Amino acid sequence: MTDNVIIAEGLVKRFGKVQAVNGVDLAVPAGTVLSVLGPNGAGKTTTVRMLTTLLRPDGGRAVVGGHDVAREPDAVRKIIGLSGQYAAVDEYLTGRENLDMFGRLYHLPARAARERAAELLARFRLTEAADRPAKTYSGGMRRRLDLAAALVIRPRILFLDEPTTGLDPRSRLGMWEVIRELVHEGTTLLLTTQYLEEADELADEIVIIDHGEVIAQGTSDRLKAQVGGERISFTVGSAAMIPKASSAVLAVTDATPEIDQETLTVSAPVAGGTRSLVAVVNALDAAGIEAHDLGLRRPTLDEVFLSLTGRRTEDEQEERD
Ligand SMILES: Nc1ncnc2c1ncn2[C@@H]1O[C@H](COP(=O)(O)OP(=O)(O)OP(=O)(O)O)[C@@H](O)[C@H]1O
Ligand SMILES: [Mg+2]
Repeated sequence: MTDNVIIAEGLVKRFGKVQAVNGVDLAVPAGTVLSVLGPNGAGKTTTVRMLTTLLRPDGGRAVVGGHDVAREPDAVRKIIGLSGQYAAVDEYLTGRENLDMFGRLYHLPARAARERAAELLARFRLTEAADRPAKTYSGGMRRRLDLAAALVIRPRILFLDEPTTGLDPRSRLGMWEVIRELVHEGTTLLLTTQYLEEADELADEIVIIDHGEVIAQGTSDRLKAQVGGERISFTVGSAAMIPKASSAVLAVTDATPEIDQETLTVSAPVAGGTRSLVAVVNALDAAGIEAHDLGLRRPTLDEVFLSLTGRRTEDEQEERD
């Protein structure tokens, strides 16, 4: 009927009184990347666990690779790979032993399991560390090992739950490269993340969920356009400069700037790209304000969120309260 290899229709999951997932619909065409974006507690992991047969839906249905997850869980497990938010690697085994174990788990013959382990270790730049216990690995190495474990059976459908949360920028770029390669080889990918930037880099389509519901979806460009495109932002030297800086920005952009008192950051949406940038610089200069880290940037997840829901992501709220 369609060539969607991951389909969810009205998926529901409750934990006691918590409505973790509340009627989620998803469709991922073969060979594409869907990113599920949302703040802590949005229901990302719960959705992934239902799609990967680890959790039984309370309502709705899901079909992965042509198999219903509730009725044919074994068939689904055979064709998917899952790299979870909480790594599945055994701390006390070496990297090589971990991968070997996954191979055996999937009934690869001993020799094939060994060969696949060596191949994946090389691919993920873990050969040197291969014979050290995983507990001695850095966070980035552990993530790479976890991803390698998900790839032991060469799945054509892959689920990655927050593959780069907690990684430093360099390791994150490395992970993106690996993911791009997989997609290039034809893997269909569902990826959860809290970072719009990551979805931006990797996804063909983005679904934003909050409180277990899909609140927006589309390409990255479409979502950003919905939020109002680029923003200018800069920091000032002291809190005393903020009112003057705000009115200078307001005069140019016609938008009340957003102020972060903690980092002394002023930001506002702009329509005119670099022209607006120059105008703001001139206005600040005329007002005698020295601005640092001044630049144009695209909206962040927080801003997409703020605009879609009228509130900040919960994390930030907690920090602010
Ligand atoms: N096993 C469980 N028992 C009870 N409540 C749960 C369970 N798993 C998840 N929840 C709740 O369901 C909601 C969704 O959780 P989920 O882990 O799916 O969110 P998430 O989007 O993955 O968040 P994060 O970004 O923090 O990983 C949360 O309110 C969470 O507390
Ligand atoms: Mg999660």
